[in-house]
Order: sequence, then structure tokens, then C-alpha cells
Amino acid sequence: MKRMISPSLMCADFMNLGDELKKLEKGNIEYLHVDIMDGVYVPNYTLGTDFVKRLHAATDIPLDIHLMIDEPTAKLDWFELCEGDYVSVHYESCTHIQRALNLIRERGARPMLALNPGTPLTVLEELMPYIDGVLIMTVNPGFSGQKLVTSTLGKITRCRELLDRNGYTEVDIECDGNVSFENAKLMKEAGANIFVAGTSSIYSKADTLENNLARLRAAIG
Ligand code: DX5
Ligand code: ZN
Repeated sequence: MKRMISPSLMCADFMNLGDELKKLEKGNIEYLHVDIMDGVYVPNYTLGTDFVKRLHAATDIPLDIHLMIDEPTAKLDWFELCEGDYVSVHYESCTHIQRALNLIRERGARPMLALNPGTPLTVLEELMPYIDGVLIMTVNPGFSGQKLVTSTLGKITRCRELLDRNGYTEVDIECDGNVSFENAKLMKEAGANIFVAGTSSIYSKADTLENNLARLRAAIG
């Protein structure tokens, strides 16, 4: 499966976002990860609907919109969605998760189911026909700069097995949270193929964005 990088824009340098976007385009980045938080489903606020619109206008890179909001079904209409965009919704955030996933498909985007570290994989069983991807949270959502919940590595492996066993070999597995250069390698070996890159890798202050990007590409092979 193609291995892809999705930079977490909440970690970007907002004072220089235009320049950074150009660098990401030059680096052939596959997705742009946009964290939407509502202070209810997760205890934080980040990016929003206008930012999504501005990004669509500024770049052809598809968006990977991560909704960490309560009852996203009623709010999907607020978002401009383009063909090729991923939209992920958390299992616990919706009363009717299948309806939410379906609605994303109807809007022309690609549905992804997000699972917190404590959410069992069994919830995936009924939802495999409705998704293009699974977002395995490798930290609890809400904040950047957290430490990997190590049990999620085995979960990635079991998720890949479950999908493949049921014939969903094309469904992507994305991992989000503490995707460091070292952890990315372990996540790749476990079976993940989309890597959310935040402060642990490409936005690490220890080196330039270009060098960090090259290092992450090398780590995911
Ligand atoms: C939350 C975010 C974060 C974060 C990842 O959904 O996507 O997990 O920006 O970056 P790290 O964990 O490397 O700071
Ligand atoms: Zn995220």
C-alpha cells in the first residue's frame, strides 16, 4: 500500500503558512491534516471551517479533516468538502455513526472512522463497508506533543488483519499522535500507511522542515 504523509497543520508556523505550504507541495505531501476541535468532545480549540475553505483555495493537496467535535452529523454542512478529501469522525462522537459516515460519502468526500486508544476494534466490524480509512489514534485526541500509547501499535496490526480478512485490503490505516521518526517505523511495520506528522517529526525544531520531511519519508520507506 502506498505510504503517505499528512502534516498536522495545527503544528505549522501560522506566521509563515504560505511558505510552508509551498514546501509541503514541493515535498509531494499527499494530505493536509486539519484538526477541528470544539472544546466539548475534546478539551481544546484548533482550526475551523474558514481555514478549510482557505486551504482549498490555496492548494490542490487533498485535505484530511479530523473532526473532534460532538455530533458531527449536524455540522458537516458547515464544511466545504472536495472530492478526494478525507473526513474522519470519532466513533463516540455520533449517536448514529453509520449515518455520519454515509453523509460524508454523499458529500463527495472519503469517510474515515477514528478510534481512540480506548475504543475497541470490534466497533469496526459493522462499519467496514462504509469507510475508506481507519484513523487509529496513537494518543488521546486534543493536544499535540503527547507520548505514544504503546498498546495502539498492536491495535494497528490487528486492524490491518481484520480489514484484510474481510476483503477490505484497500482501506487505509492512518495513525495520529507522537508519530516520531522512530515510532513511524514501528507504525509502518504494524501496518499503518498514512502518517500524521506533527511536532514529533516534521515540525520538530531540531531541524528544517525539508530535512525532517526527508527523514520521515526514509522512516516510512
Ligand atoms: C490531534 C493532532 C495531534 C498532533 C500530532 O489529532 O493531530 O496528534 O498534531 O502531532 P504530535 O503528536 O507529533 O505533536
Ligand atoms: Zn488529528
